[in-house]
Amino acid sequence: MADSHQIQVVHGPSLNLLGTREPEVYGSTTLDEIDTRLESAAKELGAVVKCFQSNHEGDLIDCIHEAISWANGILINPGGLTHTSVALRDALAATGLPVVEVHLSNVFAREEFRRHSMVSGIAVGVVSGFGPMSYRLGIEALVDHLAAG
Ligand code: DQA
Repeated sequence: MADSHQIQVVHGPSLNLLGTREPEVYGSTTLDEIDTRLESAAKELGAVVKCFQSNHEGDLIDCIHEAISWANGILINPGGLTHTSVALRDALAATGLPVVEVHLSNVFAREEFRRHSMVSGIAVGVVSGFGPMSYRLGIEALVDHLAAG
């Protein structure tokens, strides 16, 4: 059914700087470009996305809580909070919504501290290492999961 899947996309700290932030690690695509691509990918897949970025943990948690009232799923790149935030994990778990975790870089091929994610244990799955394509793969997987219902 068209537009039957409503997805909250959440971008964590410093992802607003994509395009200029460590381009050798994160590439040259900006967050606006990623969001635009996600909007058109969602349309193709019969879904709609709302995209939100914040550098503040509490604002991210508020956004996640608000998703309870309207969203069917959450696509999240928690940025550095991936590795540290019990509060973010708890907020995601509290929604009861399916969560897909994405990373631009391959977190397993980087520093040791990036190999652990607070979020992965409550996620349906994780996509890591494909640059902006991680988001595309993540939304496809989330919509597929929702469709399987
Ligand atoms: C990231 C990986 C994290 O380790 C890092 O702190 C980020 C970005 C990624 O998309 O590759 O901010 O989530």
